[in-house]
Amino acid sequence: MNLLPTTWTGLLYLFATVCFILALRGLSSPRTARRGNLIGAFGALVAMVTVFLSTALDNVLLILIAIAVGAAIAVPVSHRVKMTAMPQLVALFNGVGGGAAALVALLELRSSSGFGALLAVAFTVLVGAVSFAGSGVTFAKLQEMMTTRPVLLPGQRWLMGASLAAALVLAALVLATGQTWLAAVLLVVGLVAGVLLVLPVGGADVPIAISLLNASTGLAVAASGFVLGNVLLLVGGTLVGASGTILTQAMAAAMGRSVTGILFGALKGGSTAGSTAVSDRPVRSSSAEDVAILLGYAGRVVVVPGYGLAVAQAQHTMAELASTLETRGTEVIYGIHPVAGRMPGHMNVLLAEANVPYEALEEMDQVNPKMKTADVALVVGANDVVNPAAETSPGSPIYGMPILKVSDAQQVVFLKRSMRPGFAGIENELLYEPKTTLLFGDAKESLTKVLAAVKNL
Ligand code: TAP
Repeated sequence: MNLLPTTWTGLLYLFATVCFILALRGLSSPRTARRGNLIGAFGALVAMVTVFLSTALDNVLLILIAIAVGAAIAVPVSHRVKMTAMPQLVALFNGVGGGAAALVALLELRSSSGFGALLAVAFTVLVGAVSFAGSGVTFAKLQEMMTTRPVLLPGQRWLMGASLAAALVLAALVLATGQTWLAAVLLVVGLVAGVLLVLPVGGADVPIAISLLNASTGLAVAASGFVLGNVLLLVGGTLVGASGTILTQAMAAAMGRSVTGILFGALKGGSTAGSTAVSDRPVRSSSAEDVAILLGYAGRVVVVPGYGLAVAQAQHTMAELASTLETRGTEVIYGIHPVAGRMPGHMNVLLAEANVPYEALEEMDQVNPKMKTADVALVVGANDVVNPAAETSPGSPIYGMPILKVSDAQQVVFLKRSMRPGFAGIENELLYEPKTTLLFGDAKESLTKVLAAVKNL
């Protein structure tokens, strides 16, 4: 079909671009994120319909079948996926986007000529393939289909160096000859490089690798926009590349890491430590009634929510306990760590769902100075984000990550089910401190019991 005049096509692309920019703006705050997401999806729909109406497409039936198959898979998955599994889903979508960009560029090679176009093809094929394979490995790690720890193959450095050198030689050959088979070999080398790049990334660093691959998929898509002469792909890809880069840097900073340290730390002999072994040293455990007394007579309580709050879906019970304590005159503050949970803003989204006012949520830098004046720090399903090993154990995988300093509070109460470690797989010495009390059990069940006991005080 070619139903749209060029001016209209341009205008509709401009409209879609504005939607993407507004979507990013909306996504920058939990308050407006839902609207931002819808605006972005609407922009994508407008863009897709515009392509159909403005381009003389071949194989329209096959394209429609592909869209139907994709939608039939994606819609039920998006409904069913748990919020805690969102990073894996993002990794999967991201990888598919990179792979698609690489295949499109490969097919366009035959009709491309000139240095700029061939360079864009080689770049898209390589980066798209790296992104596809790397995202696949991050998916497998987060889904625990393989170990989440850094994996170092024998001679990993040499393999990495060799794949990089091979990629550069092949890209130069594609530029010189424009041969499709050379680009296909480049794609295979890109797949190998993607796997090698992500294998040494472990534990808590995996989500940052996902964000980085997401940014590189954006760049691959932007380059494919150049290949196809499509301004919208160019702009959309650049937006993804830029926002992904900013997110990567923000996440790395929140964990006290550098992006190169995350990707190459294990290669340089950095920490691959971490074990799920559980020590049998004694700890102080307590009953819900005792915890209720601690909380009910406290002047200030700092609640530190973590991944376990999301697993237990205990946000509503937590909010009810906080307002019950407040009616008794206790001040309740939520201390939010930027990487608590399993995705950026995870705790903010959960607590917003339970109508906890935004003003009650304080970021790490804001809440840490107040810890000393807190009678109780109530750690609900969090572990790594309060683990002092981040400050005291140079060999630890979380060393250097800023933490919520709950040990400064007068008393610390942990709600968790067992002595198992958190995501990084390392023990938390704070659990064995004399000022720490553990209330074992599912966070929702424990909070329900504590709430009932506080009401009876
Ligand atoms: P974690 O360190 O993973 O600790 C979670 C704790 O929750 C564990 O101690 C677990 O102990 C407990 N738990 C699990 N299910 C529970 C339930 N139903 N009831 C009560 N407790 C439960 O979580 P965190 O402190 O939030 O730290 C987040 C970690 O994930 C960091 O290492 C971070 O780097 C990483 N990460 C973050 C992101 C982002 S961007 N937020 C993404 C991926 C990974 P039990 O098993 O004993 O109950």
